[in-house]
Amino acid sequence: MPTHILVAEDNIDIIAVMRDVLESEGYRVTCAANGREALSAFEREAPDLIVSDVMMPQLDGFGLLSAVRAHPAGAAVPFLFLSARTEMAATSQARQLGADDFLFKPFDAEDLTLAIRAKLDRRRAVERFDTRAAHLQTVLMLANVVEARDRYTRGHIERVQRLGLQLARSMNWSEEALAVLEFGALLHDLGKILISRTILNKRGRLEADEWEVLRRHPEDGAQMLAGVDHLRAAVPYLLAHHERWDGGGYPRGLAGTAIPVEGRLLAVVDAYDAMTTERAYRAALAKDDACAEIERQAGRQFDPTLAEAFVYLRRKSSD
Ligand SMILES: [Fe+2]
Repeated sequence: MPTHILVAEDNIDIIAVMRDVLESEGYRVTCAANGREALSAFEREAPDLIVSDVMMPQLDGFGLLSAVRAHPAGAAVPFLFLSARTEMAATSQARQLGADDFLFKPFDAEDLTLAIRAKLDRRRAVERFDTRAAHLQTVLMLANVVEARDRYTRGHIERVQRLGLQLARSMNWSEEALAVLEFGALLHDLGKILISRTILNKRGRLEADEWEVLRRHPEDGAQMLAGVDHLRAAVPYLLAHHERWDGGGYPRGLAGTAIPVEGRLLAVVDAYDAMTTERAYRAALAKDDACAEIERQAGRQFDPTLAEAFVYLRRKSSD
């Protein structure tokens, strides 16, 4: 669907030029001859952006702007004034607007399209950010449900996420891969939601059948995510975080680079955080001891390259 622009302007010559310019850029254009007409067009058609003259009969540009902002659907619609310099200089309202909120007449076709494009780009960036923030909140809520059931994991997922992002950044992962890691790390133990609290919180050794149940959580979690479009990308984190470099892990017993890199990275970070956290049956390991253990397991439990990079980062870090 083409981007829809509402133009409010009382001069029919300017309207004709603007329609030409904007339609040749591929926009759909609706024109209104004054502020009141523009306001009802806004309510009826929900345009993506408004370009408005300042001085207009019935309702002027500032009146239109405040009516649009007061409307529930209009709080974030980009709004661009098109005005004579003298009109803008004369009003105190104009001084409260940013310089990129108006374009002066006589306008140049290129200036107009550039200004519109800039406004639309910024709006899209804000939308992307909002969606991402809302998405992460939902993920965090889910992760907290998992964490609340397991008394060993308090704060674990956030630390794993933070350390995982540090390690991935040091390996020059793409922004897109980092974004998936951000929620993959939070959800990596999602499958534990199906495990009884008795098993999760058991002190001492697990029986064979209890182990069996515990070892199902990577596949259970991956299955839950596989049905959710915007979370599916995180499946490798859930599925492969208990695989071992030497092939002795679960659920598939993959070895070396046959293990998705997401799982190899999370395995190192997850194990480090578990070692440095106190458990019922042992005290927390100090950072140096945990690093030494990661090094000992490089090439056995862990991808040696990732293990080395992680230990380097931990030793360099002050926390
Ligand atoms: Fe796990």
